[in-house]
Amino acid sequence: MACSVNYGTVIACFIVISLSLGLFVLMPVLVNLFAWPSTPSFSVNLFHNQILNMTRSNDNSPTNLAIHFDLKLKNENKAIGLHYPDQINITFSYFPNVSTLAILADYKLDSFYQGNGKARHVRGKVETNGFPTVLQGTNMIVFRVDLVGSFRYKKVGTKRHKFELGCLVGVDYTTSNKMQTGFIGMVEPGLDSKLKRKPPPDVGY
Ligand SMILES: *[C@@H]1O[C@H](CO)[C@@H](O)[C@H](O)[C@H]1NC(C)=O
Ligand SMILES: *[C@@H]1O[C@H](CO)[C@@H](O)[C@H](O)[C@H]1NC(C)=O
Ligand SMILES: *[C@@H]1O[C@H](CO)[C@@H](O)[C@H](O)[C@H]1NC(C)=O
Repeated sequence: MACSVNYGTVIACFIVISLSLGLFVLMPVLVNLFAWPSTPSFSVNLFHNQILNMTRSNDNSPTNLAIHFDLKLKNENKAIGLHYPDQINITFSYFPNVSTLAILADYKLDSFYQGNGKARHVRGKVETNGFPTVLQGTNMIVFRVDLVGSFRYKKVGTKRHKFELGCLVGVDYTTSNKMQTGFIGMVEPGLDSKLKRKPPPDVGY
């Protein structure tokens, strides 16, 4: 549409431009008010910066394991901030067999606020209270990371949403290679999270 030197057209153009600008400026506000917000996403990179040696060959082998992790929490909303009002519990475990999940360590993350579209990396280290064993009948140590917490949109009248998410990380016992590299998305737990949790067995090598 070309604007000729005609006052009516100039005014029309002016109105169109103002409306577009107004919408452009108002868009984030409108999205905030009316859009259905997205849940935050979580992913973890286990053993991200360490050399692993899962092979234990003698009595001097270590009896515990340091797990270095990089946990990424992302607010997927461009226009809404998020509160994590409660402590987030992170549990590191492994499967000695398909029917048992043995806890290795816990990590707590204090409540915090996360601005629009922001991602936070929590890089930490936990010491386990035992050394994991291979999943019975395989050559793999199968770790599980679980996240339990809650979040609330920074929006009037919204309530807390609870989340319970997890993922598996397999490590080859002989080569100490991870089955998947990089960040692994945490998803709604499957059956495995409903398994009975037990303290790790005292395994004498
Ligand atoms: C891993 O640890 C075991 C026992 O501590 C040791 O015998 C072996 O040489 C180590 N392997 C590597 C690649 O360092
Ligand atoms: C699985 O492992 C746990 C802990 O070592 C043990 O108590 C349990 O009996 C095992 N279950 C099976 C079916 O092997
Ligand atoms: C987190 O862990 C603490 C202490 O272990 C416990 O009291 C709390 O209920 C846990 N929070 C959730 C959401 O499970």
